[in-house]
Amino acid sequence: MMTAFTSTTVPEAPEDPLFSVMVAFRNDSSEKKIDLSIGAYRDNQEKVWILPVVKKATATTAMSPDYNHEYLPIIGLARFIKAAQRVCLGNSSDVIKDNRITSLQTISGTGALHLGALFLSKFYRPDGSNNTPTVYMSSPTWSNHPQIFKLAGLPTATYRYFNASTRSLDFDGMLTDLAAAPPKSIILLHACAHNPTGIDPNPRQWEQIATIMAERHHFAFFDSAYQGFASGSLDRDAIALRLFASYGLEMCIAQSFAKNCGIYGQRVGCFHFITSPATEADTLETVTRIGSQLTALQRACISNPPAYGAHVVSLILNTPDLFEEWEEDLRVMSGRIMHMRQQLRIKLEALGTPGSWHHITEQIGMFSYTGLTTDQCLQMREMHIYMPLNGRISMAGLNLKNLDYFVKSMDRVVRETEGFSKVVNGK
Ligand SMILES: Cc1ncc(COP(=O)(O)O)c(C=O)c1O
Repeated sequence: MMTAFTSTTVPEAPEDPLFSVMVAFRNDSSEKKIDLSIGAYRDNQEKVWILPVVKKATATTAMSPDYNHEYLPIIGLARFIKAAQRVCLGNSSDVIKDNRITSLQTISGTGALHLGALFLSKFYRPDGSNNTPTVYMSSPTWSNHPQIFKLAGLPTATYRYFNASTRSLDFDGMLTDLAAAPPKSIILLHACAHNPTGIDPNPRQWEQIATIMAERHHFAFFDSAYQGFASGSLDRDAIALRLFASYGLEMCIAQSFAKNCGIYGQRVGCFHFITSPATEADTLETVTRIGSQLTALQRACISNPPAYGAHVVSLILNTPDLFEEWEEDLRVMSGRIMHMRQQLRIKLEALGTPGSWHHITEQIGMFSYTGLTTDQCLQMREMHIYMPLNGRISMAGLNLKNLDYFVKSMDRVVRETEGFSKVVNGK
């Protein structure tokens, strides 16, 4: 029998570019090979690092007579959700005090983005018509963002973010585009450690962004995938979230614990919907209604979220000693990455590699947008160095053992390639 799912109706989907880089790395037998593609932390020995605090909490959870394999409620583990709210908004948050928030545990950050996208696609009709508003995302952004929002049926567009010639934030372009977007648009913002550029607005710039968002009545959709991992401080990495919340803006947050707890495969995350200040009765009515629809969507998508990772993270967030240990682990990860940034820049400058390299230490978080072109990335691959073709490297893939080889390879590729220094120097 012939299949009903022919290539006309089901054309082959393109492979995810990042995962194909990972496969190519795995198939390379060279001892020199370096994987700079995937956004997961590695220690100085290139090893996956299980955070000591997570090791402890995992063992305690597994041995606890209170832990079993029952289903969680549809919205997830209540004590985890409450603690997750405090992590992003702070212990003294008015939003939490005034009960202006409704949250659900999700399948990590991706699941939170998906749930939020579905909710907005189904219910956000700010102009009173049947039109779904457009989601504006930074150019560039995490490659999964457009796919997630399109899958939920939301139109997408971009706002300017990255200035290729200065390798810095195109702040004027960003503000102009946010101001030009139709009122009440959905604006996707990276809370910190922008992926892929590693460039964040500074606190003053966040204020200007929040002001324009308020003036245009835009809806802020924050993706918070790197809180604490970027600067080593949970509070510092949450300034944008807390600033927007203090403006009383209606907004939502997709929160991931994948990177900051190194618990990637356990899929621990949260979706938070925050409503604007109103009377107590109105607030309660709004969050109850919205929470009920989010719960219905969650039921249809996944029935209920996975339990084990949420129990582990909940134990860390709700136990003061473990929380302190977690903060220390965050400083270890972010500190090593910052050290690698400094060393990479120092070594490129010492070799006199053509171009300017200050952007490497000005960027923050897991990734550095090196400025290497597609051709140069392909040449790096011939030297057994694997990175996506947009020139983004995962800083966690660099360590004191492989850094010299990486720098020498990069130096060689840059020198051999006509035109690179012109791009980097903005000429
Ligand atoms: C910007 C950004 N958002 C969200 C995610 C989602 O991660 P996860 O679903 O593993 O929590 C990632 C992961 O790389 C990311 O870089």
